[in-house]
Formats: sequence, C-alpha cells, structure tokens
Amino acid sequence: MEFYDVIKQRRSIRGYQNKPIPADALARIGEAVNLAPSACNLQPWKFLIVENKEFREKICKVYSQPWLAQAPAIAVAFGNNEKCWKRLEGDPIAAVDIGIAMEHLVLAATAEGLGTCWICAYNVAAMNEALQVEEPWTTLAISPLGYPAAEPIPLKRKSLREVFEVMK
Ligand SMILES: Cc1cc2nc3c(=O)[nH]c(=O)nc-3n(C[C@H](O)[C@H](O)[C@H](O)COP(=O)(O)O)c2cc1C
Repeated sequence: MEFYDVIKQRRSIRGYQNKPIPADALARIGEAVNLAPSACNLQPWKFLIVENKEFREKICKVYSQPWLAQAPAIAVAFGNNEKCWKRLEGDPIAAVDIGIAMEHLVLAATAEGLGTCWICAYNVAAMNEALQVEEPWTTLAISPLGYPAAEPIPLKRKSLREVFEVMK
C-alpha cells in the first residue's frame, strides 16, 4: 500500500474476525517496529504479540471490551523507564519512544490489511500484574490485532488550520 493510503486507511477498529494472522505478516510488522527511532537509540521497549488464549483472557479481564476478546492476537508494548533517555528535567522519554514504535506497528498492520486500536485506558498496575511485568518495565499500550469485522466510527478531526501551520 502507498504510504499516504496507509495513513488514511488506519482507523481504530473495534470488531474482529476470528481468523488467524499469517506468520509472515507478523514478521514484517516486527521489522517495522524494530526500525522505529528512539532517543539516543536506546530502544527502551519490548513488543509482545499475544496469541496465547490464556494470556489474552488475562489481558481481557483488565480491559474488558468484547471487541478486544474477539481479536486473534493482542499486541502489547512494554517500556523501560530506567533504560531510556531522560529529558533535561529528568523525566523519562520511554512513553514517547514507545508511542513511535507502537505507531510503526499500527501502520505496518494497516498495510497488511489488519485492524488495530490503541488502548491505554486500563489500570496499569493490574495490567502489569496480569502480564507479570515488573519495574522498571511497564505496559504502556496494547492493541488488538486482527482482520476487521467492524467499520470505524465516522472520522472527526479538528480543522487542519487549527493544528498545522507553515510559518514563513
Ligand atoms: C494513546 C492512545 C490511547 C487510546 N486509548 C484508547 C482506549 O483505551 N480505548 C479505545 O477504545 N480507544 C483508544 N484510543 C483510540 C482513540 O479513541 C482514537 O484513536 C481516536 O478516537 C481517533 O479515531 P481513529 O483512531 O479511528 O482515527 C487511543 C488512542 C491513542 C492514540
């Protein structure tokens, strides 16, 4: 898919087919994640594609929307708040780094014809416990991964004028 078509095609999908994801598509998505930039190239992340039913059920107990349970896989983005670059004020940059890498995953998945939906509205402590994640690691985002079975809600955006400006 052409780059700008991928950008336009990507939407949050909240309904999935019960159809497995080909291993070669997952491998290409992994390559796309691994090409993401990060501050000082520290790559303070780990991505896990959970196909395992038992683990998916654990995740779905913490974020219990039915459409997440429909997906054949759940992508999980872990960030390391110690082994990342820190801003000059000392704040860890891991959430920014992982945001970029996660969006590589999301766009690569879109190019593969797969649906995704960023999810952050879960109890982080409960998700870390479900996934057996310990500090300094934390679960920064998750997303269902699978072939779409639902249309996205109508696109709503601020006007371009409000958010993007070219200053000459
Ligand atoms: C950082 C982040 C967190 C999000 N968390 C959730 C979430 O927990 N649950 C959900 O249904 N959608 C979540 N979304 C999806 C947004 O609601 C969605 O991106 C936005 O409404 C725009 O719609 P679109 O993705 O279809 O263009 C999240 C998106 C981002 C970028």
